[in-house]
Amino acid sequence: MKIAVIGSGYVGLVTGVCLADFGHEVVCVDKDAAKIEALRSGVIPIYEPGLDELVKVNAGAGRLSFSTDLPAAVAPADVVFIAVGTPSRRGDGHADLRYVREVAREVAGALEGFTVVATKSTVPVGTGDEVAHIIGTANPGADVAVVSNPEFLREGAAIEDFKRPDRIVVGIEDERAREVMTEVYRPLYLNQAPLQFTDRRTAELIKYAANAFLAMKITFINEVADLCEATGADVQEVARGIGLDKRIGGKFLHAGPGYGGSCFPKDTLALMKIGQDFGSPMRLVETTVSINDQRKRAMARKVVAACGGEVRGKTIGVLGLTFKPNTDDMREAPSLDIVRGLQDRGASIVAYDPQGMAAAREMMENVAFAADAYEAAAGADALVLVTEWNEFRSLDLARLKAAMKAPVFVDLRNVYRPHEMQRHGFTFVSIGRTPPAPGEAEIAAQ
Ligand code: UDX
Repeated sequence: MKIAVIGSGYVGLVTGVCLADFGHEVVCVDKDAAKIEALRSGVIPIYEPGLDELVKVNAGAGRLSFSTDLPAAVAPADVVFIAVGTPSRRGDGHADLRYVREVAREVAGALEGFTVVATKSTVPVGTGDEVAHIIGTANPGADVAVVSNPEFLREGAAIEDFKRPDRIVVGIEDERAREVMTEVYRPLYLNQAPLQFTDRRTAELIKYAANAFLAMKITFINEVADLCEATGADVQEVARGIGLDKRIGGKFLHAGPGYGGSCFPKDTLALMKIGQDFGSPMRLVETTVSINDQRKRAMARKVVAACGGEVRGKTIGVLGLTFKPNTDDMREAPSLDIVRGLQDRGASIVAYDPQGMAAAREMMENVAFAADAYEAAAGADALVLVTEWNEFRSLDLARLKAAMKAPVFVDLRNVYRPHEMQRHGFTFVSIGRTPPAPGEAEIAAQ
């Protein structure tokens, strides 16, 4: 099949590269000439494990190319994927569809022969209808089937997720698209991934509902963690105990500093707005959004409490800045709120992240950056583990403690075991496992 992917950001690039790896002939298109030039010379603009190798292999085999010429890529294509960004619109949280509409207009003018136009971008319910309308108006003679084909990729595991998905969702209104999309994903049948064909609006809603459900699951266990701290229970054990029930499932029950990233915060907000617009409010989602926002700020208070209620004039070392490991993405990362909260209370911050420091330099002010965890610990009054990178899982605890001014360790990802840390002489605070230290409950409640 000949495929054009419009938008070579995170989703577009992973989609294009993986489809080329399936054997399709793929052109990844972007307006950004510098990005396309870089991709042509093998420079990948994002950090995603394994992606550079796949680009090299498939570009080398002639199946994958990069271009700024949208019409030339669209004309011969059997399928055109729209994979441009849908950021939250400033002010109201609605998904901003400017780029999707623009691309639909450009694609319309370039279509030749029957073409499936598939939206990969996460878009509000009804956007497929709008894309079909835009194309039909701009090019009344176009023979096109607009489908919704949402992606469920996780950053850091995107290639694995693409090649071994739990399911592929395709929303169609024109039966001819069923055959084409079946062909696109044929290699995945070997992995027995169910292909769920449904109508377009349902497919659009599945994407939002999936992300909102996961965000809710995380938020639920985060609130249970707070309750564990208040009651002296252990959230890890609670998560295991409920997760073994197959109806609940053990995944996404890891308590932490709140969810971040490019999807959950944006998509929960957008679903909330869709609900309000259609007069069918999503109250659980609304509450999830508000709890998660508060939680990120509450984590700074947790660190203050661990430091005895005062951080003014103190130095706090921060381990991990990205919203999760194996990415360089800092969007909506809890570290942003935590660092700001600590700075507002007069603390100095020394931070280290294996991949996120370039982005962090753009987004954080007055932060000193360290070369590794031990440098971040040097002279610190406390260390806060915010992102569970593998290299933070087996730190030399004696060396760490020796480097610090005071041995206070706040583990917001429950990487370390309380008794182990206490044995090493740390004042150790984690999530949902330790009873509140004296004064902590009062401070956290402020
Ligand atoms: C998510 C969805 O998983 C994916 O299906 C969708 O297409 C895009 O959004 P991603 O944002 O890459 O993917 O990250 P994910 O691994 O889902 O983590 C999201 C956030 O939730 C992170 O901040 C992570 O730290 C947090 N999280 C996740 C928890 O706090 N606890 C958990 O148990 C799981």
